[in-house]
Amino acid sequence: MAHIIVVGNEKGGSGKSTTSMHVATALARMGHRVGALDLDVRQRSFGRYLENRAAFLVREGMDLPTPQLGALPREADGDPLSAAVAALDEASDFVVIDCPGSHTKLSQMAHALADTLITPMNDSFIDFDLLARMSPEGKVLGPSIYAEMVWNARQLRGQAGAGPIDWIVLRNRLGTQEMHNKRKVGTALTSLSKRIGFRVAAGFAERVIFRELFPRGLTLLDLRDIGTTQLSMSNIAARQELRDLITELRLPGVDAKF
Ligand SMILES: Nc1ncnc2c1ncn2[C@@H]1O[C@H](COP(=O)(O)OP(=O)(O)O)[C@@H](O)[C@H]1O
Ligand SMILES: [Mg+2]
Repeated sequence: MAHIIVVGNEKGGSGKSTTSMHVATALARMGHRVGALDLDVRQRSFGRYLENRAAFLVREGMDLPTPQLGALPREADGDPLSAAVAALDEASDFVVIDCPGSHTKLSQMAHALADTLITPMNDSFIDFDLLARMSPEGKVLGPSIYAEMVWNARQLRGQAGAGPIDWIVLRNRLGTQEMHNKRKVGTALTSLSKRIGFRVAAGFAERVIFRELFPRGLTLLDLRDIGTTQLSMSNIAARQELRDLITELRLPGVDAKF
């Protein structure tokens, strides 16, 4: 059975599709067989990202490890998500599922399938608010809508006898200057992580490169293969952040010293 990685947060623009593409492609580059599903049926950023990659490789006559994009069946009797995952399962070690930035039935079902759940969030208390309510003094008052949805998904999995969800909250678009805010969000996340059961990953800094790669369907790890000999310091640091994330995910069968 493929290990299912769901990337979710009921917030648009938190970096779900960027993270989905980078994690899926990193695993493919490490020699794992990776299936991909985009549940954001309206924006389709992850699907478009992978289509851009396929077009780039054809155009350049190149062959780079690439996740295999699956699709939700148009007319499924019953459950389209399970059908799509089942279609990818046999040929995949991992299936990476990107969720929309809103509450949908598909997204909710996907969370119950997650062996690993990655929740990217912008380093802001507006994003934090979907995980937990806080008092103005910074005290965590209790779980909020998204955390409750994950809790329900965990209950469902428990009832079905499936294993636990390893939930990782990933801090994204970290600024280099906002030390005060960074520290406050960090403290709040650490105290919340114990209470509602997730791990915090160091995450990604705010970097222009993330916004530039999409049209060619490339990720940070591909740059050398397309002939970029001089990586900027910022790109090298970003690549290291991605490697650190893959290690922090502790995925089965994935080399910890990647
Ligand atoms: N670490 C980052 N640094 C700079 N830009 C980023 C970063 N992460 C994401 N972005 C940009 O933010 C926007 C939203 O990211 P996206 O992955 O589409 O979020 P979501 O799927 O959660 O809506 C995109 O333009 C993306 O390129
Ligand atoms: Mg998206």
